[in-house]
Amino acid sequence: MTLRTLDSLGDVSGKSVIVRCDLNVPLEEGRITDDGRIRASLPTLTRLLDQGARVVVISHLGRPKGEPEAKYSLAPVAARLGELLGREVAFSPETVGDAATSIVESLRGGEIALLENLRFSPGETSKDEAERVAFAARLAEFGDAFVSDGFGVVHRRQASVYELAKALPSAAGLLIEAELDVLDRLTARPEKPYTVVLGGSKVSDKLGVIGHLLPRVTSLLIGGGMMFTFLAALGHRVGGSLLEEDQLDTVRGYLQEAERLGVEIVLPTDAVVASHFGGDAEHEVRRVDELEATPWGEKGMGLDIGPETAAAFAERVRSSRTVFWNGPMGVFELGPFAGGTKAVAEALSQVEGLSVVGGGDSAAAVRALGFDDDRFGHISTGGGASLEFLEGASLPGLEVLGWQ
Ligand code: 3PG
Repeated sequence: MTLRTLDSLGDVSGKSVIVRCDLNVPLEEGRITDDGRIRASLPTLTRLLDQGARVVVISHLGRPKGEPEAKYSLAPVAARLGELLGREVAFSPETVGDAATSIVESLRGGEIALLENLRFSPGETSKDEAERVAFAARLAEFGDAFVSDGFGVVHRRQASVYELAKALPSAAGLLIEAELDVLDRLTARPEKPYTVVLGGSKVSDKLGVIGHLLPRVTSLLIGGGMMFTFLAALGHRVGGSLLEEDQLDTVRGYLQEAERLGVEIVLPTDAVVASHFGGDAEHEVRRVDELEATPWGEKGMGLDIGPETAAAFAERVRSSRTVFWNGPMGVFELGPFAGGTKAVAEALSQVEGLSVVGGGDSAAAVRALGFDDDRFGHISTGGGASLEFLEGASLPGLEVLGWQ
């Protein structure tokens, strides 16, 4: 079976189409700090509106616990969506109920509404299937058809992702199609040399992806907080740096497996070590065999890859034909520790071939460091979803749309 796409829904003119987007954007005091996911939802919405559909958008934001919480309201997202679409977006302050019904019923062809956060209703994320089915049935009353386009949530078996797709004629939107096209190229037919750059704090979040990608790649570059667990596995002392002791054996296993497969796992040769965690911390560059030789001894913490490592990683990345990057190289939010992430982002933007930035944190990192999206081949809107896809997991939100 293959993915059901928008064409499978036939003529949508005058029909009410529910579109599940992932508009889970970062907010600071009600201000959207990265609207990448809203932008990514535009192609599907525009196409449906241009075809004369009555479009009802649904999404989650954050992780409220099944009841309304003002800080997780989608109201600011409705305003931004309206600006980007250049049309009015009616906002329903409730997800289901009389007010939502009356807003949906008042829509005419080519008009659009956004309903309040799905996760304000307990049925959305309930562990009880019957509750999810019941909530999906209420949502289904709003539409003649359903389009799933929230790639960032396809790994979740939640009412608006899975059960709703079963309740109505359903298809994948253009964002999901685009994401799958790229991620499929990374697993099924990557052009070599193929380099994967992994960072972020925890190696335990990346075990599945390392295991699945190892046989497919040319080199695996390890930075970010997780590098210290790799370095410790090789016998280095890492002071106060992040360390997952319970993963040391697993990491040793990966190092052996890589050797057996002839895949290079490239580890940092230097790191930026700081007196404490903070933008004002004193810091020094140290080679990885002397991470504790700073004035802060065992307390010093590595917060970025060092310049020698950054240059070596950048060189590998630039000379690859396929690159997938997930996870910042250091604490990029703090100026003194942004160098490694910046160097990798810069190199990634120079790749002649396919370059993919995967995941919310990495996407936010490149944008916060001033890189425009069009400097990369593809920026995935899915963090957990893209990693689970690359682990080879079966994702409920894709399976229900016919993807195998
Ligand atoms: C994400 O930010 O990765 C998606 O929006 C999914 O959010 P969740 O992890 O809260 O389900």
